[in-house]
Amino acid sequence: MMLENLRSVSSRVHLRHLKSEDAAGPYHDWINDPEVTRFLVTRLDYQSVEAIEGYIQEMNTRRDEIMLAVCDNETDRHIGNVKLQHIDPVHQTAWLSIVIGPTGSWGKGIGTETIALMTGIGFDDLNLRRIDASCFAENIGVQRAFEKCGYQHEGRTREQYFAEGRPWDAVRLGILRGDPPLWREFLS
Ligand SMILES: CC(C)(COP(=O)(O)OP(=O)(O)OC[C@H]1O[C@@H](n2cnc3c(N)ncnc32)[C@H](O)[C@@H]1OP(=O)(O)O)[C@@H](O)C(=O)NCCC(=O)NCCS
Repeated sequence: MMLENLRSVSSRVHLRHLKSEDAAGPYHDWINDPEVTRFLVTRLDYQSVEAIEGYIQEMNTRRDEIMLAVCDNETDRHIGNVKLQHIDPVHQTAWLSIVIGPTGSWGKGIGTETIALMTGIGFDDLNLRRIDASCFAENIGVQRAFEKCGYQHEGRTREQYFAEGRPWDAVRLGILRGDPPLWREFLS
């Protein structure tokens, strides 16, 4: 899905639509870094430039998904992706997922700002009622980032994921349009 007049900026990053050329840029490096993909399904396959290009094109044409590039405000460098998936026009819900690529960018607030920006798009542009997220229970950083944006813990699903030869519990988080909009504090 592509949005007209997309304007989504926080103090450190901005979001933009992905282009085919992004496939051969930094994206290719960080999406193949096992430290970055440890908790992502992309860890299962090597992501070639051609595969990434195809994925970008698919994401830009699908009606039920929107994937945006996270870019550093100072350098304009492509440092991550954020998605709203399974956009459901009947129930007005979607699932948010995020990856911030270069590990040197972690722990500086970028994940939190990115979740805030995409939450704003979900509520303000797509008119969603509710946004969901699910993550490995051990992925403390992303849970903290969601919480800072106003998402609430809504449960734990046992052995939801299988990775590294063993099952892992998942934590479910969610935010409603009417919840305290902590995420707005991160928007510029
Ligand atoms: C998870 C991820 C998005 C977090 O992004 P980030 O930019 O590092 O997050 P922030 O800097 O906004 O951190 C948010 C909070 O979590 C804390 N945090 C970050 N990583 C942490 C970790 N590994 N352990 C404990 N706390 C952590 C930060 O200190 C911060 O809390 P604070 O403001 O109270 O200090 C990023 O590390 C990432 O993309 N990882 C790889 C992909 C992934 O796991 N995606 C999520 C799939 S559901």
